[in-house]
Amino acid sequence: MHTIVFKGHEQLAKDIGLIPLIWEQFQFPDHESHIRIISPVPKEVAILCSLHHPDYKIFPLIAVAQTLRRLGAERIILTAPYLCYMRQDKEFNIGDAISSHIFGQLISQYVDHLITIDPHLHRIKSLDEILTISNTVLHANGLLADYIKTHIVNPLIVGPDAESIQWVRCIAEQLNAPYVIAQKTRTGDKNVSITIEDLSPYTGCHVVLVDDVISSGQTIYKAAKATEHPNLTILAVHAVFADNAYDLLRSITPNIITVNTIPHITNGIDLALMLKELTTDKRIQP
Ligand code: R5P
Repeated sequence: MHTIVFKGHEQLAKDIGLIPLIWEQFQFPDHESHIRIISPVPKEVAILCSLHHPDYKIFPLIAVAQTLRRLGAERIILTAPYLCYMRQDKEFNIGDAISSHIFGQLISQYVDHLITIDPHLHRIKSLDEILTISNTVLHANGLLADYIKTHIVNPLIVGPDAESIQWVRCIAEQLNAPYVIAQKTRTGDKNVSITIEDLSPYTGCHVVLVDDVISSGQTIYKAAKATEHPNLTILAVHAVFADNAYDLLRSITPNIITVNTIPHITNGIDLALMLKELTTDKRIQP
């Protein structure tokens, strides 16, 4: 599929087998973005843009989509392996913007279909609640389970909070391995406390902490501390790693593996094949 590939995703685009369109993006001295699409635009076109650091990308993304449309695109598919703003899904305090809904409504005006991997669905149960376009949600559970199967002997799968049960149980079932879910209390962006049941029945197991997103790293850091376990691996889908999160987690274990939805040094699980299969899937064709 002909695709506008945002910076940082060139290797992923190549591995998926996408055909990059030539375009350019730069910033004027005043930090406004300039977008120019140079290749001829086919009727069906994709955009590959993972939406970490979203506030730097949303205007360029919309400018790309609108320009593709003006130049003749009839169907635009946005592949955003990481979907932004999904954790701001309610009015936590009076007057809060509900950013997941705002972003969903915005992007629905500019593209026709969205493909993403493990969006953080918590209070929102389906992307249909925030998008008015069709969408395809892929899950990395199978890839994480395959990684554990081939790299870790005698795993105990641990989820850091109640929300994690949806992927932890699924992975544990695929491996026929035990799992434990910890309890998390969050009182601020970087204030998290975690309690976990006694893990002494699992002595001899290798603890595999699994989460969908690592952002500040506090959730996984506190969960790792709570396990008090010497053999530990951290697996996550989306390597947001804000500020010093990576260093924080490296202080616990060198075994940190993520999926390449966001380019990061920890990427050890490749989603290219899963996306490649999808681009030939008739369900997302016009
Ligand atoms: C939220 O519940 C998610 O599943 C993650 O646990 C959370 O986003 C991780 O955030 P942080 O790394 O900032 O603790």
